[in-house]
Amino acid sequence: MCGIVGYVGADEVAPILLDGLSRLEYRGYDSAGIAVWSGQDGMQVVKAKGRLQVLSDIVAGGKNVTGSIGLGHTRWATHGEPSDVNSHPQVSEQGRFAVVHNGIIENYMQIKEFLQSRGVRFVSQTDTEVVAQLLEYYYDGDLMGAVSKVLHRIEGAYALGILCADCPDKLVAIRKDSPLVVGLGEGFNLLASDVTAMIKYTREVYYLDDGEIAVLDKDGVQVYDGYFQPVEKELHHVDWEISAAEKGGYEHFMFKEIMEQPKAIRDTVFPRIQDGKVVLDDFTITKEYLEELDKIYIIACGSSYYVGMVAKYNFEKLLRKPVEVALASEFRYCEPIVTDKTLALVISQSGETIDTLAAMREAKRLGARVLSIVNVVGSTIARESDDVIYTWAGPEIAVATTKAYSTQLAVTYLLGLKFAELLNTISDEDYGELVRALLTIPSKIEEILAHKEDIQHYAALYFNHNSVFFIGRNLDYAVSLEGSLKLKEICYIHSEAYAAGELKHGPISLVEDGTLVVALASCTNLFDKLMSNVKEVKARGADVLGISIESQREELHKSVDAAILVPDIHPMLLPSLDVIPMQLFAYYVALMRGCDIDKPRNLAKSVTVE
Ligand code: AGP
Repeated sequence: MCGIVGYVGADEVAPILLDGLSRLEYRGYDSAGIAVWSGQDGMQVVKAKGRLQVLSDIVAGGKNVTGSIGLGHTRWATHGEPSDVNSHPQVSEQGRFAVVHNGIIENYMQIKEFLQSRGVRFVSQTDTEVVAQLLEYYYDGDLMGAVSKVLHRIEGAYALGILCADCPDKLVAIRKDSPLVVGLGEGFNLLASDVTAMIKYTREVYYLDDGEIAVLDKDGVQVYDGYFQPVEKELHHVDWEISAAEKGGYEHFMFKEIMEQPKAIRDTVFPRIQDGKVVLDDFTITKEYLEELDKIYIIACGSSYYVGMVAKYNFEKLLRKPVEVALASEFRYCEPIVTDKTLALVISQSGETIDTLAAMREAKRLGARVLSIVNVVGSTIARESDDVIYTWAGPEIAVATTKAYSTQLAVTYLLGLKFAELLNTISDEDYGELVRALLTIPSKIEEILAHKEDIQHYAALYFNHNSVFFIGRNLDYAVSLEGSLKLKEICYIHSEAYAAGELKHGPISLVEDGTLVVALASCTNLFDKLMSNVKEVKARGADVLGISIESQREELHKSVDAAILVPDIHPMLLPSLDVIPMQLFAYYVALMRGCDIDKPRNLAKSVTVE
């Protein structure tokens, strides 16, 4: 969602802000803006609806706007349509304050009415404008006094960047429930929604905690808690290379990330297998704890939730313990049955998804212990978990997840094995077999990727369909949910995933001549049942694209119009292979439909509003 960048130093700031914003484009946005202060020109604010390039052209790549302190923003509209005036920075009526914001000010209407009753004129429909106007209203020459009063007044979630024309050597950064990072340089300092925007300039960062306020000038950063008491922050060093967040010759980040999956899984899994055993560093869950466990509650959103769906099948089979999978956005409001014997397994690539974070806090409040699977080091979910297992996928830039999904799956296999070992619910033989199979996933994915042209061929056959069903049973169903989401997200095709046995209970009425059905049939024990479902849809005119394992080649070809085959592997690990052709299929279809693959409409990479 909205991206924030701020810089104070000695260099011309506008090109730095534009560069930082370009690295946050992946978060999803519909407009962009910058505010720059200079002694000569005062507060200069330039905003534009549309792509960052529009803004960049207006300011000639930053050359038209001079000054060495400023804020930049990419907006993902919540309150008010995407437009120049609703873009950030939002400025107070007298032009003293410029504010950028990620999140939602929930009580903005009350504040707006209050200020309007005192004669303040608003120009935008945004919730953010109330922050700028309220700062001006409270300001009596004391910047931090005004900030303090505003913080007492506003409710909701926010990461804020504030620039005040009366204190033009300072930026104020505030964080509550929306991510914000401060970067420390020599003679300059930065703030941003995530480290991607600042890694070119510095690798030394403070991750702000909820309620913290940072004041940046060019020579230093002071962080305060909510009571304005100084806080000693731990300095973190970001060690990934900037090239990891660049396209490196690929046309799209999504394609690059699909191709990176073997490496991402190797990095995530191989160091954690030692002498044939799963070894998880800093993992404090014990056999005694697991024996007492009443339930595993998996909590996540979107693709991470679909990873949870796969994990449920595998965990229940391996552990014989009840596993429930909850959409984070529903969890908080369904009066979940959680006790101090419940393990909340929280899955999130970004570690900042607001629904997942809020659900995790609720689970904790109810007594659960929290174990999380997270990709972004230092993110809020990682920091607030009792145990965290990182997916070492590297930065994922494309909005549609691929390598994060695959590495999350891999971590659930590791966890299943670890739990089963501790609970003694797996034989040594089965354990060894599963570990050995796990280590083959990357090379088997490489085999699938080597034949990507076959999938491109099927994409060319079917890219014109506007309604697609995915069907599967058991793990095939769980992974088909992800295949269907990919098609929705990046191809704008209406697609649904159904447990194949459910078709007859309603959805089959939608199947007609030319409907595309993607049938996942890799679970061999359910292959015949799935083929019966294939016959049912074919009898009603559907075109069927089947996905199964090599050993079912002949049987599959008998029933479907087109077949994609993946290598055979241990049945529990099938989702890791099945998902690859579905990712590639969606990618090629999106390419053929001319879609904006890395930045699909209306979507944001990190969903930081409820
Ligand atoms: C997947 O392609 C989507 N980008 C989306 O469903 C995503 O998985 C979801 O928003 C959860 O994000 P998280 O893993 O960062 O919490």
